[in-house]
Amino acid sequence: MAMDLAKEILKLKREKNALILAHYYQPGIIQDLADYVGDSYYLSEIARDCKEEVIMFCGVRFMAESAKVLSPNKTVLMPCPSAGCSMADMASGKALLELKEKHPDAYVVCYINSTCNVKAHCDVAVTSSSALKILKKIPNKKIMFLPDRNLGEYISEFFPEKEFILWDGFCRCHNKVSREDILIEKEKHINAKVLVHPECTKEIRDIADYIGSTSGIIDYATKDEGTDFIIATEEGILHELKKKNPNKNFFIPGDKICCQDMKKTTLENLYDALLNMKNEMIIEENVRKKALRSLENMHLLASQDVRSN
Ligand code: 13P
Ligand code: SF4
Repeated sequence: MAMDLAKEILKLKREKNALILAHYYQPGIIQDLADYVGDSYYLSEIARDCKEEVIMFCGVRFMAESAKVLSPNKTVLMPCPSAGCSMADMASGKALLELKEKHPDAYVVCYINSTCNVKAHCDVAVTSSSALKILKKIPNKKIMFLPDRNLGEYISEFFPEKEFILWDGFCRCHNKVSREDILIEKEKHINAKVLVHPECTKEIRDIADYIGSTSGIIDYATKDEGTDFIIATEEGILHELKKKNPNKNFFIPGDKICCQDMKKTTLENLYDALLNMKNEMIIEENVRKKALRSLENMHLLASQDVRSN
């Protein structure tokens, strides 16, 4: 049955001239179906540059929204319209405007994990794979960063000369990764390296051998000569890690780091959305144009070598 549905999706995809994009946190069966799998930065570039008229974005809302902002003439669909990002929902455009009034001289940087209404009031967007590169190119001394406090704090450590105003948002799934769980895994696998996403807290970042985006973690584990890795990010990444490294071992601390929203995509809702062209991203043109500026600045300031798959 599952196989039939996968075949039907591929057939429909060709009929509708659609492209399927999937983030590394998506269920493995969805990653296997996708035309491109990647991190937030890479997928935003593919969405912008692809020739297909329809993009089926298997990820969460801010990713599909960004695709629509970048490609207003394409039809951008999601398998499940309620797949949001709890961190993105921790900042609103209205609250950002209030904070900006208090710091009119700040350069405003948003994580791509933010709503369109927030992006509309920012100078530039960043992803975890492009943030440091982009920040290096910003001359302003005062930086406002939202919504992820952990990523903001991580970036700020590289720029001691700058003043950072950090929003108090976080990812419910990365923020609760436990140091004890990592140490337990380290005791069991003494040579294992600890690879951490920067959305984790400082106490987790402090015991990391490597800190980086999903694509950065995959690249590191693939190139490293070690065989054991403790992975402090969402477990969907294991699919690509194991595919690229069948002879290496990967351990998730506490056995579970799971983004419920990323797991809302199923073959059934993907098929239904494609067949009926459901769950289309619609963004008010005024907001889209403003949000576009922050995403275009992101692509402009990030150099080619941040891309990955
Ligand atoms: P990446 O850009 O590293 O893929 O991260 C996206 C994300 O949502 C992390 O929680
Ligand atoms: Fe958002 Fe966290 Fe899920 Fe990433 S893992 S999409 S930050 S809730």
